[in-house]
Order: sequence, then C-alpha cells, then structure tokens
Amino acid sequence: MRARIPGVFTASVDRAQPKPALYRDLVLSLRSLLEGETDPVANLANASALLGQTLDRINWCGFYLRRGEQLVLGPFQGKPACVRIPIGQGVCGTAAARREALVVPDVFAFPGHIACDAASRSEIVVPIVQGGILRGVLDLDAPETGRFDGEDREGLEEFVRTLVSLVDWSALEDAGRRT
Ligand code: SME
Repeated sequence: MRARIPGVFTASVDRAQPKPALYRDLVLSLRSLLEGETDPVANLANASALLGQTLDRINWCGFYLRRGEQLVLGPFQGKPACVRIPIGQGVCGTAAARREALVVPDVFAFPGHIACDAASRSEIVVPIVQGGILRGVLDLDAPETGRFDGEDREGLEEFVRTLVSLVDWSALEDAGRRT
C-alpha cells in the first residue's frame, strides 16, 4: 500500500514497511517536499500533511510553536485543537520544558494530559530545538493505546532534526512579535 501525495509532489512512502525504513522514506520525502522553500508556515503545513497522509492509526498530528512561555497551535491535521498550552503543562508542555521526546502509551495515565480530541488514547511529542532555542513541538495522537514506541520516537526525532535544518525559524519570531 503506497500513500501518494497529489500535486507536484510525487514521492511516495510504502506504509507497510517496518518503521525504521518507513521513517527513512518519510525523511527523504520531507526533504523533497520542502526543497527550495524555507517559509515556516508553508513548510510546517506540508510537513503535517505528509505525516497525516503517511502514518496510519493516528487521529491528530501537527505543531505547537513557542511564543514566550506558551506553546501556540500551529499547522496541523485533525480536529480543531486547544490553542494555547503553557510550557510545563500537558504532554506537549512537559516535553517542551524537558526538551525531551515523550512517548505516552496511555494518555489517561499521564497526570495533566490535555484532551483536545476525546478519541485520543496515546500520544508522542518531540520538541523542536534549533541551536539551543526551543521553537515548539511536534505532537501526534492516536485513537488506540500504545500506538507509539521507541522506533516512532527515533524516526520522528530525525524528522524534526530535518525540519529544523529546512525551516527559516527567524521568520516565526517576526510573526510572533506582530501578534
Ligand atoms: N494532548 C496534548 C494537547 C494537544 S492535543 O493532543 C492536539 C497535551 O496534553 O499536551
């Protein structure tokens, strides 16, 4: 089963392959999708669409971006979500404060979990850190417990490292100052 991304982007990822290979292909697709473009909103939007089209058994994927001491909702795929999360709260805010990826096999067992979509049962959050600066987090939710494991964490950490190198994060700072 190959997930085809329509339009000018023609690369595809075999969704049935083992996770390490799946994430290797996903990172290659990300590079090809973002080639020649550094606009943060466009690139994060396409990155979330790529994840949403490629990964199965998820109900939400997207970005929260750092604005001071809060995370503010960024480009995503899924149901409308809570807009502001204080750093240190919820799964996203905890991962951001620790600057460390968090795999939560059962969100009901995570004290302070913020339920944006009542269907979510498990979650993974990967902080986005560029040159020592926290830029935000990548968040994925699944409607089943135990959806994410160490292979997802490693794959998504590589995905985020790639994004960090392909996005002009300073343009986001300008947007933050004007709002
Ligand atoms: N569950 C997250 C909130 C974001 S939604 O999942 C999209 C949290 O606890 O931080």
